Amino acid sequence: MQAVDEFARFKREGRKISIVTAYDAWSARLVARSDVDAILVGDSAAMVFHGQPTTLGATVELMAAHTRAVAGAANGKFVIADLPFLSFRKGVPAGMDAVGALVSSGAQAVKLEGVDGHEDVIRHIVQSGVPVMGHVGLTPQSVNKFGGFRVQGKTHDEAEHLVHQAHALEDLGCFAIVIECVPAELASRVTTELRIPTIGIGAGVDADGQVLVLTDLWGVDQRHVPRFVRRYFDGERVLTDALNQYNADVKSRVFPSPDESYS
Ligand code: KIV
Repeated sequence: MQAVDEFARFKREGRKISIVTAYDAWSARLVARSDVDAILVGDSAAMVFHGQPTTLGATVELMAAHTRAVAGAANGKFVIADLPFLSFRKGVPAGMDAVGALVSSGAQAVKLEGVDGHEDVIRHIVQSGVPVMGHVGLTPQSVNKFGGFRVQGKTHDEAEHLVHQAHALEDLGCFAIVIECVPAELASRVTTELRIPTIGIGAGVDADGQVLVLTDLWGVDQRHVPRFVRRYFDGERVLTDALNQYNADVKSRVFPSPDESYS
């Protein structure tokens, strides 16, 4: 995908949308070479890239730096960047500064979590010509409110609230919404009710698309693998084996060979 209107077209045509995260140039280049539809510079960068326990430490400056690295290597693939914790909760001017930082770093769209209480910011971003992706369900920036990374929308009231939020995001002009960690049936209902595409993560197969964190997909860090992750590569083992082979070659003087040396 290269343009935002392709999201609507995919939904109209019943084609699934695939998105993965990227935070740096080398992985973005690999995603750009793949058939995956779009790249999300997620604030999960704080956890995956910077080793923090939550996404709360991500800042606008940090997200702008990751966005610049990814956008420079994305080769035209559609890049969405996350507005980090509280950046869109300080009113329209501060929110627009954050959007400006991400868009001038190369993002074609921004994603933000929730809707209640920041409808004005979302409306202003959309009216400013910047495509907005919503995010409901397990919104990680509210981890302290949820008491951990837990499945959301399990009770009737929670489910109705989530459906209401999804409609509100559509009405505000979002081009798509992420639905994270909710019962598959609830995501299916939202997907049927909305005209804009839903992008699921831990939300079952009926969402219009899926998003995964790249390092989860590649199996690079297997300390904690959520139920919804499918590992497509045993990255932790393969990459460690490569490092051990390099170490052995250095110690045994096999590396570098004459061909890998200058005369
Ligand atoms: O930050 C992120 O990676 C995300 C996805 C999990 C949707 O928001």
